Amino acid sequence: MSRIIYVNGSYKPHADAAIHAEDRGFQFADSIYEVIEVLGGKLVDATRHMTRLARSLRELHMPPPMSDAALLHVITRTIKLNRVRDGLVYVQVSRGEGRRDFAFPSPESVAPTLVVIARSQSQSKIAALASTGIAVKTMPDIRWGRSDIKTVMLLPACLAKDAAKREGAKEAWFIDANGAITEGASSNAWIVTAAGTLVTRPLDHRILGGVTRATLIDCAKREGLTVEERAFTVTEVLAAREAFVTSASNTVMPVIQVDGRAIGTGQPGPVTLKLRAQFHHSAEISDV
Ligand code: PDD
Repeated sequence: MSRIIYVNGSYKPHADAAIHAEDRGFQFADSIYEVIEVLGGKLVDATRHMTRLARSLRELHMPPPMSDAALLHVITRTIKLNRVRDGLVYVQVSRGEGRRDFAFPSPESVAPTLVVIARSQSQSKIAALASTGIAVKTMPDIRWGRSDIKTVMLLPACLAKDAAKREGAKEAWFIDANGAITEGASSNAWIVTAAGTLVTRPLDHRILGGVTRATLIDCAKREGLTVEERAFTVTEVLAAREAFVTSASNTVMPVIQVDGRAIGTGQPGPVTLKLRAQFHHSAEISDV
């Protein structure tokens, strides 16, 4: 089946899904995005993702490309046209096309670019990865000071992931100037302490407010677990019982090694696996 991508008002075959050479997303990374999980043909946590999308647009003084209802319609249609049951939908909005100029064009003179891509992702492959857990590699956090905005300015994340991959790790953890972990290159970072407390960094401008992170806090509370939002160091990770990352693409993924050293037993831990199993009971699951 040929893949279909939504670009600025049309559903295009994959080969024809192009945007303009002077798109500001291409020239300046003047562009934001969302990645939403599709599970059994339904959207996971659509409301939280739409709320974050609106916030990213506001923070960059970018007008929304269309109403939320219309955008949800485009997302739904793209998922259906590509017959995605389990996978991800990617939504990107850039400020649009204009003569190269650093200052923003007036909103009246430019139309936002909207791209929606849906693709299948094998649940069994992710489950297999979760059953072994992943290794992470730490890297200095060289990103800008507004990592809370979900922009496509992802080169530091690509460099970090690539360095991690070359060492056999699946994710990179960024470290701030105080030696604390900010977050993963494309996920939020968590530990389960020796006392059984869940710890994740509090929200500020240094990390992305993960939708999965927010839903996992709800899930952990339902499970009667204590969640502490505070920064933690690699030393604390090595003293922890368990560690994991959260993201829309992997929900809850056990982390068993940091920089080649085992965390806890060196196996996915019971708290992580329980949260992984329970996660979708706390998520909003909506029909498409
Ligand atoms: N990444 N932190 C960063 C830097 C991220 O890029 C992501 C998500 C997260 C987790 O956010 P959420 O739970 O809302 O997915 C945290 C997506 C999946 C991506 O870029 O593919």
